[in-house]
Amino acid sequence: MTPPTDQYDEMAAEYAEHSAAGLANAHYDRPAILALAGDLTGLRVLDAGCAAGHLARLLAECGAASVTGIDISAAMVALARERCPAGTFHRADLAAPLDLFEDGAFDLVTASLVLHYLADWGPPLAELRRVLRPGGALVMSVHHPGEDWRWFGRPDYFRTEQLEDTWTVAGKPRTVRFYRRPLSACFNALRDAGFTVDRLLEPQPQPAGREVDPEGYASMSTAPHFLHFRALTPKAPPSGAAAR
Ligand SMILES: C[S@@+](CC[C@H](N)C(=O)[O-])C[C@H]1O[C@@H](n2cnc3c(N)ncnc32)[C@H](O)[C@@H]1O
Repeated sequence: MTPPTDQYDEMAAEYAEHSAAGLANAHYDRPAILALAGDLTGLRVLDAGCAAGHLARLLAECGAASVTGIDISAAMVALARERCPAGTFHRADLAAPLDLFEDGAFDLVTASLVLHYLADWGPPLAELRRVLRPGGALVMSVHHPGEDWRWFGRPDYFRTEQLEDTWTVAGKPRTVRFYRRPLSACFNALRDAGFTVDRLLEPQPQPAGREVDPEGYASMSTAPHFLHFRALTPKAPPSGAAAR
């Protein structure tokens, strides 16, 4: 069953507040995404699953030439426009063709904590590869496969399956559905879409996160929670290579 498209609409404002300075987003996921992205100067960046625009704003502040964000949640897109006036934001579903973008429109795609909402990574990764220029990079994060398997006590690590969790977001319980898959399925989907995995990161939280949430900090320092990839599209062949 596909997760409802509005699951973030209902909690957009609360999630925006929660993720602004919370341990998992501000001191764990976003620093790892930025570290893998490297020097952003002059890059055209697509932030896929941009939520309320926290990462998009950082990308713009770090020197990206342009930042475009997409999210399936209209409420999130509205918040992202407010938070990051330098960016351009659209409501779009990563499970559908991204017809609003031309081939090679971006140098870098970031996809932080969004792909685990998709049952099938094939078509979305093919689209992300299409909109990247040759030699472009996809930097993405997902729930760590080992963590979801352990936390939910699932009997078969190797299955891809939908899970349901209840998070406390800004003090309110919120039910969220997503998919877990084994590490090999993540890697193989990237390879099948034509990406080469360049770096894989099981990040450590930033020291400042200890004060925000000491218990969470201890857990993130000693157990996997999120998994980050940097994956590259093939470089264009040298001119004349096709004639040989
Ligand atoms: C955990 S948040 C991502 C965090 C965000 N990248 C940040 O830096 O704050 C997940 C986001 O993915 C979006 N999303 C879920 N499924 C999607 C889909 N099929 N297409 C586009 N966005 C999707 C949700 O609406 C939500 O805003």
